[in-house]
Amino acid sequence: MNVHTQLSDAVRQAVEKAFAESAEPQVSRTQDTQFGDYQTSVAMRLGKTLKRNPREVAQQLTETIAWQGLTEAPEIAGPGFINFRLSNDYLGKMVARIAADPRGGVEPTTTPQTVVLDFSSPNVAKRLHVGHLRSTILGDAMTRVLRFLGHHAIADNHVGDWGTQFGLLILAFRRFGDEEAFKLDPVPYLEDLYKRASEQSKQDEAFAAEARAELAKLQKGDPENLALWSRFVEISRWDVERLYGMLGVSFDHWLGESFYNPALPNVVSGLLERGIAREDQGAVVVFFDEPELEKHPFLVQKQDGAFLYSTTDIATIEYRQREWHPQRVLYFVDRRQELHFRQLFTVARKLGYEMALEHIAFGSILNAEGRPLKTREGNTPSLRGLLQEGIDTALALVRENRPDFSAQQAADVSRSVGIGAIKYADLSQNRLTDYKFDLAKMIAFEGNTGPYLQYTYARISSIFRKLGADWTPPTQVRLEAPEEIALARQLTRFEETLLKVAEAAMPNYLCDYLFTLAKAYSTFYTNCPILKSEGETRESRLALCRAVQNQLAAGLGCLGIEPLTEM
Ligand code: ARG
Repeated sequence: MNVHTQLSDAVRQAVEKAFAESAEPQVSRTQDTQFGDYQTSVAMRLGKTLKRNPREVAQQLTETIAWQGLTEAPEIAGPGFINFRLSNDYLGKMVARIAADPRGGVEPTTTPQTVVLDFSSPNVAKRLHVGHLRSTILGDAMTRVLRFLGHHAIADNHVGDWGTQFGLLILAFRRFGDEEAFKLDPVPYLEDLYKRASEQSKQDEAFAAEARAELAKLQKGDPENLALWSRFVEISRWDVERLYGMLGVSFDHWLGESFYNPALPNVVSGLLERGIAREDQGAVVVFFDEPELEKHPFLVQKQDGAFLYSTTDIATIEYRQREWHPQRVLYFVDRRQELHFRQLFTVARKLGYEMALEHIAFGSILNAEGRPLKTREGNTPSLRGLLQEGIDTALALVRENRPDFSAQQAADVSRSVGIGAIKYADLSQNRLTDYKFDLAKMIAFEGNTGPYLQYTYARISSIFRKLGADWTPPTQVRLEAPEEIALARQLTRFEETLLKVAEAAMPNYLCDYLFTLAKAYSTFYTNCPILKSEGETRESRLALCRAVQNQLAAGLGCLGIEPLTEM
């Protein structure tokens, strides 16, 4: 159990015991360690309801709180804050525990949830853009965090493998498709073909009509069109899997839009029957009473009978509920789709779904000039090119730092460093903000970067290599130097950080945590000799190193970044 929960429980119990009241304990981290580690404002709240002086209430509470050696005697400050400072004794116990635990002191939850994570979800034969890369990195990290905490996370790639683009593609492939060129370099070929077809359809109404007819044939199950469609889908999947391979990302399911196609007529008739949607000029539409959506009706079937992205998303909610009964569904999609998800979630409420539906929105990746980053062609090979550039940049650095590495070692390390750096740069940003893609900064060994954390891990590993294999952490850890105490304090915050990451789907909190940990470690390392010290001091300092090592490994693991023992 983490400190925050323990303190909250202690405060809750004290309130009950002293005042026979039940109140939110309102324990939070202090902004400034001058006021201790945690504080609560519960006495002020209680003072109001009990019509008593909050400082007196605070006084009575501090006399009742069973802090059991967790903290020093609580102090009352200002209008009635109660401040808690963790005791060195408790900090020492925590360090010993974290040093002995590869999970870095984090216990799996006792109330596991089923969470569906809908991420990556590229569109077949359309451009895979850097937004999909962000979705992939964020979704994968959140999948890992939730699993680490003991939740049942289901990673589902909701690929855009159905829709109007296929009418155009099928027609264009029949008209001017070149089987040889397609075989040679299928994905760029399809993208070009699609671009050409969509341009032509804008100028040539007959062509556009024919494309719609091909689409209708496909939707009715015409075997020739289906065969062509499935070739396109397979090729795209094979291509994007290579990108996932580089990133080390995988999915439990690939239930693309086409999977839901058979369910769509029922979605629409269900909405009509329940009066949630109605017919409007031959189309089927959901109109909202909610003031913020009043002006934004949600189209679920077009006049020509075609279903939409929206219809599929409703069917997807139904399916996920039926199959998996999730408590939460997280959609990692560009913030430009904000309106779509507000509409969708409102419809889901009307249909009676109770699971939490969350749009995990994110901003854009910008180029050096501050404009949205477009890879040269915008397509998958060049997204791979972007990652390859990261690996190459890392390789140059690794070669320089470690001339002793074999070619294979250098290649392995630079792959982890390059990919890790790109992932970390993304994850360490508040996802709602845009950021600039700057490889040189991402791959630096100094500053808030992935390589800096990997390097910290490697440095700690080298201490244990020097020590020999059979060191086991002591059960008692004594903390004396201020740098030891500061480091220990930071170590106690790992679990509560991860809980916040899981709740808000904000991996940047974890990055901040690990960066602060690495900096505290570095200050400790500079000021407190480790291998040159002796006896209990040496054991305690080694325990601090091992504790940091355990949390870095667990934390980087949650971000999908490999901890490296040497680099
Ligand atoms: N394929 C969509 C796109 O690229 C993203 C799908 C997101 N998931 C969802 N259930 N709508 O824009």
